[in-house]
Amino acid sequence: MKTIAISLQKGGTGKTSLAVTLAAELSTYGDTVLIDADPQGNASTWIGAQTLGSELAGVLFKKYPLDNAVIKTQSQGLFLLPSAGLGGQLKVFIEQVAPSEPFCMQDVIGELSGFGYTYAVIDLSPSFGTFEREVVTASDEVITPIMPDPFCVDGIEIFSANIIDARQKMHTNKPLYSKIVITAVDNRIKQHSQIVSDMKDKAKGLKLYLIPVDQVFRRSQTTHQTIQATGDAKAQTLETIKILAKDINGGI
Ligand SMILES: Nc1ncnc2c1ncn2[C@@H]1O[C@H](COP(=O)(O)OP(=O)(O)O)[C@@H](O)[C@H]1O
Ligand SMILES: [Mg+2]
Repeated sequence: MKTIAISLQKGGTGKTSLAVTLAAELSTYGDTVLIDADPQGNASTWIGAQTLGSELAGVLFKKYPLDNAVIKTQSQGLFLLPSAGLGGQLKVFIEQVAPSEPFCMQDVIGELSGFGYTYAVIDLSPSFGTFEREVVTASDEVITPIMPDPFCVDGIEIFSANIIDARQKMHTNKPLYSKIVITAVDNRIKQHSQIVSDMKDKAKGLKLYLIPVDQVFRRSQTTHQTIQATGDAKAQTLETIKILAKDINGGI
């Protein structure tokens, strides 16, 4: 099983949208589990059941076994290890237990791997504390989505430093960090084209993937579907996600 974390220490940059959409795309290559590791539980309300029985936090607190918490979604081959937003326990685990259990997510990932999933995609919160550090270093690869605003280049520099620091602290060379997704790009906006071209210059060694501004993300979240299932995503959105999944599957 290959594990991909979606992370950036910044809110509203398209992490959940990318995590759900990439997981749905990767499930065309093999069974994929989306792990909702954000206490807000946005990915879970997007594609999960309306009322959740079990959640990731319950597994981390060892209240029930992992296979009790993973649920099927309406999308073929796509499974979800959810987190409940309101009333969920993940925030409590992150604040009270995660700092003293540095391998908590490695154990969960190891066990999921034993269930035969081909991919795990992890949606993370907009912070980078001990828990997020544990999650990304337990992953094979981390991908950052950013929106084209003037601060995104700084955001990427801070994130790169966070990853280097996390690898050192956890004594590992994981995760691979070689892909950035710039999302909600509107080529009619001059500043967007400028930011994309700046990123191309600055993000040397990182491959860039561009997703256009596309209302399908907001719409499909409301209808609790993947964007692939709605059938009305922009061609370029679907194309970029296909290339990204293909690169991941091909080990690029
Ligand atoms: N390519 C896109 N085009 C237009 N809106 C987008 C795009 N990607 C994400 N969004 C919207 O931006 C908002 C933040 O996205 P979200 O994935 O929730 O970010 P995060 O998880 O980083 O907080 C959501 O309302 C989402 O629908
Ligand atoms: Mg999110």
